[in-house]
Amino acid sequence: MTKTSKYVSRQSDANGIIHWSAEENQIWHELISRQLSVVEGKACSEFMQGLDKLQLPRDRIPQLAEVSSVLRATTGWECAEVPALISFDKFFELLANKRFPVATFIRSREEFDYLQEPDIFHEIFGHCAMLTHPAFAEFTHMYGKLGLAASKQDRVYLARLYWFSIEFGLLNTADGLRIYGGGILSSPGETLYALQSDVPERLPFDALEMLRTPYRIDIMQPVYFTLDHIDTLFDAAKLDMMALVNQAKALGLHAPKFPPKEKQAS
Ligand code: CO
Repeated sequence: MTKTSKYVSRQSDANGIIHWSAEENQIWHELISRQLSVVEGKACSEFMQGLDKLQLPRDRIPQLAEVSSVLRATTGWECAEVPALISFDKFFELLANKRFPVATFIRSREEFDYLQEPDIFHEIFGHCAMLTHPAFAEFTHMYGKLGLAASKQDRVYLARLYWFSIEFGLLNTADGLRIYGGGILSSPGETLYALQSDVPERLPFDALEMLRTPYRIDIMQPVYFTLDHIDTLFDAAKLDMMALVNQAKALGLHAPKFPPKEKQAS
């Protein structure tokens, strides 16, 4: 295995349309059909309302323009078509301009249940529903602006904040624990595990703690951070986050709650 991706994004034509193959549309159909039944009663109501606004097609991969028109009307965001791998500079620059990067490839059947790279199913199904919510959108925008201005070292801290909120965030509700993180909501296994397993720790949302907590991308998470209300993301967007990054640096990282990654045979 290398750090490059085996996937190549499809490029849109002169009219902004991407011509997906029948097999790619079929993979989308199977992914969204399965995940719609899995997230019911497990995703937060804000996510479900976002899905309702997006009206994602079941039988084909949506065109980015369709998703962007809903995002523009709700929070002023839009999708940006990007290659399978982009630089951190590009990633933050897009977010800072309220453009959500969507790599325009879909996973192969061999990686139907899990892949490391974020594909179009993860980006659109996992994230775009929440991006119709003003608090989530504002928080993501703040993250992009901070990341764009941050040093390489500080970006590593900010990445943990993103990981434990936008990707793997949980929400306390009157109906019980729910999910808003797109990394969980695009994974059937982790959607069940995050709510039902008694293995992971579930800690209260605390930006400083999140900045100090190491993570691994290739395992079920040993720790989640839980918001009490989705609008708390508005408050989090107003924090002096870089002061918290400096505090996190001074205090140091928490010990990892996972074994070190084993070297893979190449
Ligand atoms: Co993601």
